[in-house]
Amino acid sequence: MLPRDDNERITQVGPHTPMGAAMRRYWIPALLARELPEPDCPPVRVKLLGEELVAFRDTLGRIGLIDEHCPHRLVSLFFGRNEECGLRCVYHGWKFDVEGRCVDMMNEPEELGFAHKIRTTAYPTAEAGGIIWAYLGPAELRPPLPHFAWTQAQPSHRHVSKVIQDCNWMQGLEGGIDTSHVPILHRVLSTDSKRPGFNPSDPFVRGKAPTLELDVTDYGYRYAGLRPLGDGEMHVRAYHFILPFHQIRPARTGSSGNMSGAAGHIWVPIDDHTTMVYNWEHSVGDPLTDEDRLERRLGNGPHDVDQTTFRSRRNRENNYLLDRRVQKTESFTGIDGVNVQDRAVQESMGRIVDRTREHLGPADRAVIQARRLLLQATRTVEAGGTPLGVEPSYYTLRPAEAVVPSGTDWRTLLAPEAEEREVLERV
Ligand code: FES
Ligand SMILES: [Fe+2]
Repeated sequence: MLPRDDNERITQVGPHTPMGAAMRRYWIPALLARELPEPDCPPVRVKLLGEELVAFRDTLGRIGLIDEHCPHRLVSLFFGRNEECGLRCVYHGWKFDVEGRCVDMMNEPEELGFAHKIRTTAYPTAEAGGIIWAYLGPAELRPPLPHFAWTQAQPSHRHVSKVIQDCNWMQGLEGGIDTSHVPILHRVLSTDSKRPGFNPSDPFVRGKAPTLELDVTDYGYRYAGLRPLGDGEMHVRAYHFILPFHQIRPARTGSSGNMSGAAGHIWVPIDDHTTMVYNWEHSVGDPLTDEDRLERRLGNGPHDVDQTTFRSRRNRENNYLLDRRVQKTESFTGIDGVNVQDRAVQESMGRIVDRTREHLGPADRAVIQARRLLLQATRTVEAGGTPLGVEPSYYTLRPAEAVVPSGTDWRTLLAPEAEEREVLERV
């Protein structure tokens, strides 16, 4: 359980909250690059950490991310005209460039020079990995853009999508880093079922309840779930959590389902009650196929998520199209789509779960540690310091999944560079 004060501290992300201030020290995914496909294309509404913004790509291809509401009389610039290096409000024709400068006014005489006195909020942006990232923090503290292996991969070898989740970002994050639920919630009941999930013959499912081991590092932590399989073997699944909201997990890519791929989520708060979940996948071998990009197994692709609103077709209003017959015979939940199952359980906890009422056990170690690190980040920022995970490059971080002899140190399965990282604490 978490005291009420800490629950508020960790979940609220508005501009004047402790977590809001901490989160504004990191680069944050604002939208997919493909939402702004070409110069002067239509602007897109973006809500980030409770702030209503609008993104546009100007005539020169530069990206603007500015206050959605025109500083004249607060009309939405979503209705604006994206023309000649600026976004023009359709009400009285005030026009703003990507830096937020007012460069023209149609309802005031030019000789007045009023336009030069007006400026709107504009945040710096950068494109990487098919995502447009934004920095909402103090200009003098802006860190370098994070370098993940997947953001630097060729577009042929990576894929990214997004979907709205109707609950606080911490619920999504805690679900993502909680390895103990995976072979339970996402279990398929019979070996011949074609439903997405983990098959009963899979070592992940055959393994007994996991022991969790976790190393705190300068970016967050790495950890593993170790599941005894009998016959001197165990199943290992090793992950990374990077502050404030990144997960890197093992993924089985391609038709062979080989365990060397990587995938992850980023849980970006839209506001305190809504989250934009970014889903990425990185194949280190073969390029990803068109079929891979449909994300049928996860339920995050264009068949499952409206690509204009980014709302899931299976959602709380229709009980995620739960089929009780399927739940009896084929899958643990009766809901199709691994991440649809995640959204169903996480949204069912309420918009912001009351963590004073929980009963956490040793299997929740990773969840407990993430809370600790995030609370610590808020206090570090309050004290004028730099939180974990702002500075380092994450280029070498990789996940791992394998069946190995019992007693094998799971750290040896991670890339050697990762193995050499300084460990701040072993939990
Ligand atoms: S409200 Fe935008 S120009 Fe008047
Ligand atoms: Fe899950």
